[in-house]
Amino acid sequence: MKVQSARGTYDILPTDCAHWQTIEDQIRNFCLVYGYEEIRTPIFEDTAVFKRENDSSDMVNKEMYSFSINGKDSITLRPEGTAGVIRSYVQHKLYASELPAKLMYYGPMFRYERPQKGRQRQFYQFGIENIGVKSPTADVEVIALGYSLVKSMGLSNIKVLVNTLGDDESRNNYRTCLKEYFKDVVHELCSDCQRRYQQNPLRLLDCKVDHDHPSMKNVVSMQDTLTDASKEYFNEVLSGLDALEIPYEIAPSLVRGLDYYTETVFEVVSTHEASGSQSTIFGGGRYDKLVEYFDGPQHSGVGFAMGIERLLILAKAEGIITDEGKRSDVYVITLDNVGSYPLEVATALRANGYITEMNVVKRSMKAQFKSAERYQAPFIVILGESEKNERVVNIKNTINQTQVTVPFADLIDTLDSFSEHDEHCECCKE
Ligand code: HAM
Repeated sequence: MKVQSARGTYDILPTDCAHWQTIEDQIRNFCLVYGYEEIRTPIFEDTAVFKRENDSSDMVNKEMYSFSINGKDSITLRPEGTAGVIRSYVQHKLYASELPAKLMYYGPMFRYERPQKGRQRQFYQFGIENIGVKSPTADVEVIALGYSLVKSMGLSNIKVLVNTLGDDESRNNYRTCLKEYFKDVVHELCSDCQRRYQQNPLRLLDCKVDHDHPSMKNVVSMQDTLTDASKEYFNEVLSGLDALEIPYEIAPSLVRGLDYYTETVFEVVSTHEASGSQSTIFGGGRYDKLVEYFDGPQHSGVGFAMGIERLLILAKAEGIITDEGKRSDVYVITLDNVGSYPLEVATALRANGYITEMNVVKRSMKAQFKSAERYQAPFIVILGESEKNERVVNIKNTINQTQVTVPFADLIDTLDSFSEHDEHCECCKE
């Protein structure tokens, strides 16, 4: 039976895994210096964690993998990380420790979306949440972490978009303005927008179907309905970005695809052609109500999540990540009648940290040398019947093209001394 990976999912093959690990290492180092600690929450949660009262987002209403087993409680594969992290923050009273709690997470998320380049049904996110304080400085610090990370990876074509959704009063003012603004054209918009108009008119600005409708061009700006407090908050965020010399654009219609945001929202997008229509590398913002929603204290939080697949597409397109092929330090060539001697030799090499590949089938010497070349092994150990009988090893050093035979007991010392030299050594050239 021929079975392929399910639509919107894919295998990460060994060559790619090496790239993933490189990126994961960079992420973890960044989180360490910014003081973020990892949290691992379950991949599935009670549906109630994600499906909150009156949520108008597409993610919650159309894209969740929700099911119940034996007709019992509904569970959902996590479509994002924030809600689970906040559930955990409240459940384990993480707010009782020093605030803000600075948490990072990494792992697969699931959304039933139409798959395309940079958009899968199972995808990986790295995210951070800074919870327990409300301060424009925290917003800036969070944006700065993500921005510096993608910059340090070498991505060049990136743009930071920021906006504010303001406090409750600002958003209520804005909803009223939007209702008024769209009232004569709402019937021309898609059926989802007609629902959004009733439920949460802010979502109209995020519609993928109607974004070219003429009414979207001159849509009233959120900036006009902000309270003084929200204006001041946003200005402080912008000053912080200026101080760190993070270039940004104010994007008045950026509302983000999730319902929990308040005040600052942001997205970092790529302008590289390889990103296609899925250009957002990471996005996030502040949420004032989520902790309370889970029966926690009135704590605000801010965070973002970054799509790892999108990061990889761009890193490859910009030539930051290249396939280097499989490497080993030593390749062990085996001739006839050597018994278990190569196993002993390879085991000693590996025990001393040498990445070792060994020939295990009957093959010509020429074919084995070709394999050693493919593994880019700087040292080749050749073992035949006489080496076995005399308990010696024949080592070819491909860096300086020399060959020596030494007792097995001296193998590691000999390789260690070879490793201290390279093709640039004056002594090796003589
Ligand atoms: P989001 O904008 O839904 O935000 O997702 C964040 C990032 O995840 C996107 O910018 C994108 O890189 C990646 N992503 C989303 N959906 C897909 C997909 N189907 N395939 C591939 N990559 C995808 C959140 O998830 C919020 N929880 C972010 C946040 C954290 N806000 C506050 N804290």
